[in-house]
Amino acid sequence: MTTSPDQATAVRHPLDRLTAEEIEQNRVIIVNAGHVTETTLFTLVGLVEPDKRDVIAGAAGIDRRVRSTLIERSTGEQTEILVSLTSGSVLMARVLDIENEGQAPITMTEYEESEAMIRRDPRFRAAVEKRGITDLEQVRVCALSAGIFDIPGEAGRRLVRGSCFIQPTPEDNAWAHPLEGLVAYLDLNTGEVVDIIDTDVVPVPKENFNYHLDSWLPEPRTTQKPIEITQPEGASFSIDGDVLTWEKWQVRLGFDPVEGLVLHQIGFDDNGALRPIVYRASVAEMVVPYGDPSPVRYWQNYFDAGEYSMGKSANSLELGCDCLGEIYYSDAVLADDQGHARTIKNAICIHEEDAGILWKHTDEFTGAADVRRNRRIVISFFITVGNYDYGFYWYLYLDGTIELECKATGIVYTAAYGDEAQRQRWSSPLGDEGLGMPFHQHLFCARLDMQVDGVENAVDEHDAVRVPFGYDNPWGNGFTRKVTRLTAEGGRVVDGEVGRVWHIVNPSKLNKHGFPVGYELRAAAQPTLMAAEGSSISRRAAYAKNHFWLTHFDAAERFPSGTYPNQHPGKQGTIAHWVEQDRPVDGDDIVVWCAFAMTHFPRPEDWPIMPVDRLGFSMKPYGFFDQNPTLDVPRPKSAHCATQGGGAAGGAAGDACCHDD
Ligand code: CO
Repeated sequence: MTTSPDQATAVRHPLDRLTAEEIEQNRVIIVNAGHVTETTLFTLVGLVEPDKRDVIAGAAGIDRRVRSTLIERSTGEQTEILVSLTSGSVLMARVLDIENEGQAPITMTEYEESEAMIRRDPRFRAAVEKRGITDLEQVRVCALSAGIFDIPGEAGRRLVRGSCFIQPTPEDNAWAHPLEGLVAYLDLNTGEVVDIIDTDVVPVPKENFNYHLDSWLPEPRTTQKPIEITQPEGASFSIDGDVLTWEKWQVRLGFDPVEGLVLHQIGFDDNGALRPIVYRASVAEMVVPYGDPSPVRYWQNYFDAGEYSMGKSANSLELGCDCLGEIYYSDAVLADDQGHARTIKNAICIHEEDAGILWKHTDEFTGAADVRRNRRIVISFFITVGNYDYGFYWYLYLDGTIELECKATGIVYTAAYGDEAQRQRWSSPLGDEGLGMPFHQHLFCARLDMQVDGVENAVDEHDAVRVPFGYDNPWGNGFTRKVTRLTAEGGRVVDGEVGRVWHIVNPSKLNKHGFPVGYELRAAAQPTLMAAEGSSISRRAAYAKNHFWLTHFDAAERFPSGTYPNQHPGKQGTIAHWVEQDRPVDGDDIVVWCAFAMTHFPRPEDWPIMPVDRLGFSMKPYGFFDQNPTLDVPRPKSAHCATQGGGAAGGAAGDACCHDD
């Protein structure tokens, strides 16, 4: 394969996703520059997005650049390499300072090798035997990100910590059988087990929970009649390259190895003018810290984006199982651990859904009964990271609302407790064999590079305010709102008691009512990071100490726990440090970050496989439009909804049978 600069000229837009050819071209350039040996792993290969202002201005001849992060396993050296596909050359190669800026994410290659490496260790085998397990093949090892705790001898090593489960047969669900009190610390580069933590010997819970086997499941219910989603004239969206157009929305799709789905240039057509709202939206980090301080669990904190690469963990979706209706799938093309192009078929799912009532009124004076139905376009992907699965669903609605819904499902992590008091204190107990589901949090962070009618934006915090009795409030009914412009970078928390929301506004563009056009961000009032101030995770996941952050735009500030959270000490390079720069944020180029969380005290009903739980945030236009932007939505047709005599009960104007949802 040659490195032809011409290949880059096929790119139509500077934010177009990397093609398989470009990924191969990147690899050849790096190989030719002498950076690759037999023991090199490509952990990340991603498009370097060009300067935002150049993209917005439609500048021509933008250099097409790729950043790759390589691990040289023979030396442990990790190198970031910047390639210009346009010129066919390496522009920069930088060795990571891993003790300060963290390490490249864990690759699938390393993950898959780790079990065999740990099983080979004689101390590990002895500890397994001590627990009465004679067949080593039954011991399944989960190689989990190590975190960083200043443990002597660990500095500079590339580590995972292996927790164990027993899988009696290859068909059995191993998560039901934790092998307690045993953890192996593994150096991924040398294959050496550097330490064994061997505490209590606890009987392995024996009951099987094989939710995936028909032979174990109850007889399937027979009550379900088919639900068919039909769109006889097709879907009402169109895709041109990476650009999705639906109703008045336009958005450009991206897919990053760390973040997965990225939405670029979200805009809304307002009377023929495409008005920008968000330049770039993604879930930039997600961490799951566990709350059990046991010596075999205190270190459990998985950064699913920065340590496990959510994009690389994307599922291939299947029609009729994962998604219903007229579906458009888009493949994700990423690099594999050797730097070659790898296609994840059907990684992104796009479809349109009915979304219940949009607006409705029956008027006592005019007698008019009006209703309109809402719809949304759904842009989603699903990932599997170890025991858990997460769906990321972006919704764009007819009325200008943008929502992100994350769906958490999969298998709750388990432990076996020998001490009942410990089981009750740190976990949700399951049954009488000591099985427990340790308490934990799922802490997400969305990065929203705002562009509300332009790049220069500001944020107003809105609180509801009770007004005391007084000369202007003689009856005590008065209440108002307090609007505070955030003039400094920093983090804020939701206050449910005052209904706190944040308006991202464009101070230089007023609506016809005389105040700045804007979007209101609503975050959920859920607990922030539960771990103690001063703990390792409180430094590393500092973003999760607030629900909302405001920063000045910097293209290098993409990930709130740093570009490389794996074994990152968190002493610099996180969002908590960026905001100390005190850069301008009032009417400037800003980024807002929404941290949303689920504090998970698992339910018995979450076992053995967890029904989807949902969390997320929404952004609603607030004065972005001069009035309800959906007045042109036509009255619903009642063609397919009548089952009882044409559905003629009540209502007017031919929309008789459209019920509230
Ligand atoms: Co959970």
